Amino acid sequence: MKNSKQKITKAVIPVAGLGTRFLPFTKTIPKEMLPILNIPSIEYIIKDAVNAGIKDIIFVTSARKKALADYSDSYPWLENELLKKDKIAELNLIKHIPSIANYIFVRQSVQLGLGDAVLKAKYAIGNEPFALLLGDDILINDFKNINKNSILKELVDLYQKYQKTTILVQQIEGKAIEKYGVVGVQKNIDKNNYLLNSLVEKPNFKNAPSNLAIIGRYILKPEIFNYLQNEEIDPKTGEIQLTNAISKYLKDNNDVYAHLFKGRRYDMGNILGFLEAQIDFALNNKKYRKVFSEILKNKIEAIK
Ligand code: UTP
Repeated sequence: MKNSKQKITKAVIPVAGLGTRFLPFTKTIPKEMLPILNIPSIEYIIKDAVNAGIKDIIFVTSARKKALADYSDSYPWLENELLKKDKIAELNLIKHIPSIANYIFVRQSVQLGLGDAVLKAKYAIGNEPFALLLGDDILINDFKNINKNSILKELVDLYQKYQKTTILVQQIEGKAIEKYGVVGVQKNIDKNNYLLNSLVEKPNFKNAPSNLAIIGRYILKPEIFNYLQNEEIDPKTGEIQLTNAISKYLKDNNDVYAHLFKGRRYDMGNILGFLEAQIDFALNNKKYRKVFSEILKNKIEAIK
């Protein structure tokens, strides 16, 4: 079967990073298990994938990530205990994630960056296009339909139309752009989609090709593995940069698209992103909205 006609059913979620910004918590527990209210943040990433039609999820993991593997598995003992106590809502909560996808685990034993983590999934992916979702980037476009929320679906739809490598971007104003991979636009396809002519990892603000920063969702073709294999370790960061590999793929193929994300993004890898997520999810949660708004109002009064 030809690659370009295949559906996107596999997703890679790299979760092998050191998580240094969340130490000491991440000494033993992966940051992807940090909860937003009572839900580990990784659930939102898994649901983003599954709601876009993904069946097989390949986690790229490392040491200290046992909790994540356990979380995606069934727990018959706990299920029985909840059943005996007639706690059906809670039972459904713990059964949900193990039931919605197949989970495959591959290891990245040395943290050589995102590009290397993606390369570790090569044999689990085979010769088909696949989705890539970063394990710490929570993207929400509709809090009212949080269970059906899927930003990845927008990328999958675009892929189905053009059958091209597609990445998600967000407008970032000012100097903050220096923390991201940034794209250069060759042509606007329509108001939310672009054909690209360059990708640059963490450019200087003055040289950034646009204000469009690459964020945590991609649809990649299997050819990207050849580019990743040939990518040198960046001497400044000690990492293999995914952005550089996509940039070289773009130079050879001239067919990488970007889709503009307009919703809310929470960078769960940093403490402020984590805090903002707690506040927004609580304010959008039927059970907590009213009481939590009061708590917040009092806090704001106290600050004044
Ligand atoms: P980050 O840049 O957030 O790095 O990685 P990190 O190690 O997780 O966190 P800090 O910067 O030390 O606090 C972005 C994504 O790429 C994965 C991470 O797990 C995260 O989902 N990653 C990063 C890997 O899987 N392997 C790596 O070598 C680096």
